[in-house]
Amino acid sequence: MKVGCVKEIKNNEYRVGMTPDNVRTYVAHRNTVYIEKSAGAGSGFTDLEYEQAGAVIMDTAKEVWEYSDMIVKVKEPLKEEYQYFKKDLILYTYLHLAANKELLDALMAAGVKGVAYETLIERDGSIPLLKPMSEIAGRLSIQEGAKALEKPFGGSGVLLGGVPGTPKANVVVVGAGTVGANATKIAVGMGANVTVLDLDLNKLTHLDEQYGSKIQTLASSSAAIENALKTADLVIGAVLIPGKQAPKVIKASYLKEMRPGSVIVDVAVDQGGCCETTKVTYHDNPTYMVDGVVHYCVGNMPGAVPRTSTIALSNYTVNYGLLIAGLGLEEACRENPVIYSAINTYEGKCTCENVAVDFSLEYVALHF
Ligand SMILES: NC(=O)c1ccc[n+]([C@@H]2O[C@H](COP(=O)([O-])OP(=O)(O)OC[C@H]3O[C@@H](n4cnc5c(N)ncnc54)[C@H](O)[C@@H]3O)[C@@H](O)[C@H]2O)c1
Repeated sequence: MKVGCVKEIKNNEYRVGMTPDNVRTYVAHRNTVYIEKSAGAGSGFTDLEYEQAGAVIMDTAKEVWEYSDMIVKVKEPLKEEYQYFKKDLILYTYLHLAANKELLDALMAAGVKGVAYETLIERDGSIPLLKPMSEIAGRLSIQEGAKALEKPFGGSGVLLGGVPGTPKANVVVVGAGTVGANATKIAVGMGANVTVLDLDLNKLTHLDEQYGSKIQTLASSSAAIENALKTADLVIGAVLIPGKQAPKVIKASYLKEMRPGSVIVDVAVDQGGCCETTKVTYHDNPTYMVDGVVHYCVGNMPGAVPRTSTIALSNYTVNYGLLIAGLGLEEACRENPVIYSAINTYEGKCTCENVAVDFSLEYVALHF
């Protein structure tokens, strides 16, 4: 198959759909790969590296879209890219169609086969193409929180691990899923006192087995969260109820009981945030203050580390991508039925049930 990868054009998006290593793999499986000139520059990959891996470098995005049967991207296409949609093009990327009716209409009108990373659900219920971004956001949350705790950034001036003779910082992680587990790992590694809360006791058991006496686990409740926040230096909001707005587990009133200069990193901001005082921020001005508490609420945290994010994401996307490119989308579904769950649009129809329900559209289940 002819597989193309274009430069991302979304504001401050430096990730890219394919690494040179991915290109080598696709080419080894007898695909032709087209890469737009400087598509990988933001992630530190040069055109020469892509060329040496076997890609054909093209000057413009237009050429890549035109020549390719399948496009591998990161972000959902922007309006400027809709003009390149064509019948039976396989578009393999994050689509987030539940939030974007205009894109859904454009994909259906053109007959694009839209394969969305965020709806590919494995047999065990996991979402493998979302997981690497949560891993990154979880680890980054402690790094960013530690920075925000520094006095020049508005924090209370506490070093997470302290030094001998000083108290360690108290880190409270609300939610023990992928983000929470990764935040815990880094906070423990930096020597902080770590408390993790979740409703799911199995998740807490897992962390307890991993870290033993190095962490405190607590069953989540309003009282437990309010109490933990009173002595917290850094709070990580990492709750998720799939498909729903994040529950507001951190009430505005709790902030008044927190120490001045404490920090809340609300990773769940992309689902509306789990703190009542959360509002979306961006990498160029990531924090603001409410009641003396520093808030960090960046919605695309992995964008701060595009090289790691690109490699992490493409490590997962390449496997399904190779199957699709090698067999075609229909045969790939027969080979691995998990791929059905990722197909959101097909031959002008909406083939993702949640998206169809959201927009009161007819849902068409695919069976090849
Ligand atoms: N800001 C970013 O850049 C960024 C990046 C990646 C992920 N995220 C977001 O981070 C959030 C967490 O993602 P994840 O992959 O860790 O999800 P996950 O499903 O792996 O974990 C969520 C956890 O929250 C727990 N939970 C639900 N309600 C709770 C409550 N009331 N109290 C305590 N725990 C509760 C669940 O039991 C689960 O263990 C999501 O909203 C995700 O979209 C944001």
